[in-house]
Amino acid sequence: DVPVIAIDGPSASGKGTVAQRVAERLGFHYLDSGALYRLVALAALRAGVAWDDEAGLERLAQELKVRFDAGRVWLGDEEVTDAIRSEEVSRGASSVAQWPAVREALLDRQRAFRQPPGLVADGRDMGSVVFPDARVKIFLTASPEVRAQRRYKQLMEKGMSANIQTLLQDIRARDARDSQRSAAPLQKCADASLLDTSDLTIDQAVEAVLKQYRA
Ligand code: CDP
Repeated sequence: DVPVIAIDGPSASGKGTVAQRVAERLGFHYLDSGALYRLVALAALRAGVAWDDEAGLERLAQELKVRFDAGRVWLGDEEVTDAIRSEEVSRGASSVAQWPAVREALLDRQRAFRQPPGLVADGRDMGSVVFPDARVKIFLTASPEVRAQRRYKQLMEKGMSANIQTLLQDIRARDARDSQRSAAPLQKCADASLLDTSDLTIDQAVEAVLKQYRA
């Protein structure tokens, strides 16, 4: 059977970067499940489907024409790699992710990423719902301060302006909302191991995940 490494954690924890690098190191496939929710949100904005139209969003999720290749993403014929990272789409993604019908509609699509020699799956419910039999389950986190710093650095590198205090407030508010929501709340599942990366470099975090996989 094809091994899965499930990595979850709060936003801006670095889980995406770590998950991608672990996949590269092992030659595994990589699933960015958050990107799928972002794509549904972008498709909804384009089609004028409202955030509370569960049936309409479900249909979009079922019919989504997506392609992932080398870190880039397409919706139909259009490359949307940057478009799905906008603030508007980020908020939309967290709205659409609340609907059980949308989550259900994305299940098979996510499971189809499980191909030999293995998969690193990044996202909220990877270990709990999508791949409950994952070989390794990691809850990757860092303190809100460190996450705010990391996001700040990221934005600077993209030439965008930002304010650390505002970023920190956003992260705290988002954590509160994410842990209270009813669908796939932000929560470490019982059989996941906690990896706090506050004092780790990306490389050290990657090594820690690889070590667990090889153990
Ligand atoms: O990590 P972050 O929340 O910054 O972004 P993401 O991983 O790209 O996820 C985008 C949105 O989809 C967030 O609101 C997540 O809570 C949600 N999501 C989800 O509900 N289930 C997943 N498996 C992945 C993401």
